[in-house]
Amino acid sequence: MVAGRVSFVGAGPGAADLITLRGARRIAEADVVVWAASLVMQECVTEHARPGAELVDSSKIAHEDVLALYARAAREGLRVARVHSGDPSLWGAVQEQYDAAEALGLEVEIVPGVSAFGAAAATAGRELTIPEVAQSVVLCRLEGGKTPMPEREKVREFARHGTTMAIFLSAARTSQLVEELRAGGYPDDTPVVVAYRVSWPDEMWFRCRLDEVAARCKEHKLWRHTLFLVGAALGASGTRSHLYHAGHFHTFRKPDREARRALRASRG
Ligand SMILES: C[S@@+](CC[C@H](N)C(=O)[O-])C[C@H]1O[C@@H](n2cnc3c(N)ncnc32)[C@H](O)[C@@H]1O
Repeated sequence: MVAGRVSFVGAGPGAADLITLRGARRIAEADVVVWAASLVMQECVTEHARPGAELVDSSKIAHEDVLALYARAAREGLRVARVHSGDPSLWGAVQEQYDAAEALGLEVEIVPGVSAFGAAAATAGRELTIPEVAQSVVLCRLEGGKTPMPEREKVREFARHGTTMAIFLSAARTSQLVEELRAGGYPDDTPVVVAYRVSWPDEMWFRCRLDEVAARCKEHKLWRHTLFLVGAALGASGTRSHLYHAGHFHTFRKPDREARRALRASRG
């Protein structure tokens, strides 16, 4: 009998064509596809699953039921695709399932996916790392949800860096979010991209100032499935990466002498 396998597949932010080729292949190969209908678009599963595959909506069952399913996969040599929204490495409750599947003797793998923060940046047409403005991205969430936060992980502490932040799972408490960001030093006019259900048919996004976030989210009744991108990079323009500057050289390209002199002079 072939060994059973569980593939934790990142489905991407929603749209069926934003899954990776490998992820789609794993769904197509699966005897059982487990997915949360509230977080992953139905088409993402039905477009890729083979006819006759068993489809299980994980939002209707408990963790123990999923474990029972993995135990069956181990007994019967089934291939399971466990589909998670975005990328499985972020807020997917994947680790406990991965460890349990491994303990059952199943072959286990993770197939990465497009996370909501990259999808939101793409929708807004923004790069999150702009030279001389922001070279780091903090992925975080507000405390106060169902999951306890480790000490030292308050939004205000991360905000002190003043770089780009991508804030998940926080739309239900936007006033608190704005207060935390202000306490960390972001000025009221900091540009923010608010992105709701990116790549779903009812996607909605807008750009506003930090001091407008709470009112605008209330106006649009956004309290879930929303991501916040915060920081000067969201509004920056006119900066230029030196990587493609004609005066910059690297292993695969020689510099133009004149451009190199100009680049050196600009750096002082
Ligand atoms: C449980 S987390 C899962 C994150 C996911 N693993 C990822 O990499 O994007 C759910 C949160 O991700 C964000 N999110 C996921 N998909 C989204 C989408 N399509 N549009 C906007 N935000 C999304 C929201 O902040 C939502 O509350």
